[in-house]
Amino acid sequence: MGNKKFNNIETGRIILRPFKESDAEAFFKYRTNPIVALYQGEGWENYKFEQAVEFVKQQMNFEPGIPDTWFQIAIELKGTGKQIGDCGIHTLSHDVNQVEIGFTLDPTYQNKGFGREAVRCLLEYIFNVLNKHRVIAVTDVRNKNSIKLLESIGMRREGHFLKNAWYKGEYTDEYLFAKLKEEWK
Ligand SMILES: CC(C)(COP(=O)(O)OP(=O)(O)OC[C@H]1O[C@@H](n2cnc3c(N)ncnc32)[C@H](O)[C@@H]1OP(=O)(O)O)[C@@H](O)C(=O)NCCC(=O)NCCS
Repeated sequence: MGNKKFNNIETGRIILRPFKESDAEAFFKYRTNPIVALYQGEGWENYKFEQAVEFVKQQMNFEPGIPDTWFQIAIELKGTGKQIGDCGIHTLSHDVNQVEIGFTLDPTYQNKGFGREAVRCLLEYIFNVLNKHRVIAVTDVRNKNSIKLLESIGMRREGHFLKNAWYKGEYTDEYLFAKLKEEWK
């Protein structure tokens, strides 16, 4: 069993909410965009629309807190109903009190601060509602925008893994970022 059903969270300009069936189209469009897929793991370029439909359906009936699963949350632009990105919580298999986060924005909505607004809100939820002990994020060292976002919300760079990820035909370096509940204000 997971933690609990996710309820909408509103911030200044966005709403974090569960996925809806009608999100599949937007989700598929930005996730398969080569700019978005650049550091996002293999397979996104060949992702099929049917997979996006299936993914959205599966996430609609899901909940956070199940070990070794990702729970994805849609990011909606307030007042428009538009889904502009998503963020996710990966409950780690060795300790359910520790989670990894991920985040993605449609390029049309990048460079406007929506990413940091969403991830800050996600951390509030993880620490204050789910009561998790530690949050981590792993990013390719070349993913400048992701690194800037993580630093801007106060995540600490704790590790630099040399050539530890096999990615698109080569071993690449990754940074590990982390934050503890006791540090989160
Ligand atoms: C990672 C990702 C979400 C970052 O998106 P982003 O738009 O760069 O990040 P933010 O939403 O936090 O926007 C920050 C920028 O908006 C600017 N900005 C503009 N208006 C702003 C506002 N009202 N408030 C805050 N920032 C604002 C900031 O100055 C900042 O730019 P700067 O760093 O040059 O100063 C995006 O690059 C992405 O989706 N990448 C593909 C997926 C991916 O790699 N995910 C990470 C996997 S680890």
